[in-house]
Amino acid sequence: MAILKIARMGHPVLRQTATPVEDPAAPRIRALIRNMVETMHDANGAGLAAPQVHVPLRVVVFHVPEDRADEGDGGEGAAAQPLTVLINPEIEPLTADTELGWEGCLSVPGLVGAVPRFTKIRYGGFAPDGSRIEREAEGFHARVVQHECDHLDGILYPQRMTDLSLLLFQEELRHGVPEAMQGAEEPEAEAV
Ligand code: NI
Repeated sequence: MAILKIARMGHPVLRQTATPVEDPAAPRIRALIRNMVETMHDANGAGLAAPQVHVPLRVVVFHVPEDRADEGDGGEGAAAQPLTVLINPEIEPLTADTELGWEGCLSVPGLVGAVPRFTKIRYGGFAPDGSRIEREAEGFHARVVQHECDHLDGILYPQRMTDLSLLLFQEELRHGVPEAMQGAEEPEAEAV
């Protein structure tokens, strides 16, 4: 097991489209996943995509902590989720509705931004044992999956933002939340 170095915004690996994994159960993929999980926990993250650790493959890990559960409309898809590994994931929006919410990213340290995301999605992918995962997601669960899958297509959250006045240093939020985001959930302590 090893803690891996996290690429920061500007590194070319974060701009490229990641390659699908041919064999989800391959030993080298299993080792990558173990190291990604260890790196995510070490960095106090809620999610991590393989390109963030300089590996341009379509693998993401995430979890939905209890304190982030039941956001949005609080439907079943917003429940807390255990540590999930998704290989070759795909996403389908189940609504045209989007919601603005704070996001932080381990590759954009110190900053948070208000990002519009689909409020309800269906996603699928493969688990490390090769079995199929299919879930519906809402709230933070939907947000973290959209954020992580964007990493696989070379997209960082600032590129999804529609109002760059809502990109700021998290520490400065102690001086007050911008008017447009009053009433929104607080930014999570855990970046993704
Ligand atoms: Ni990220």
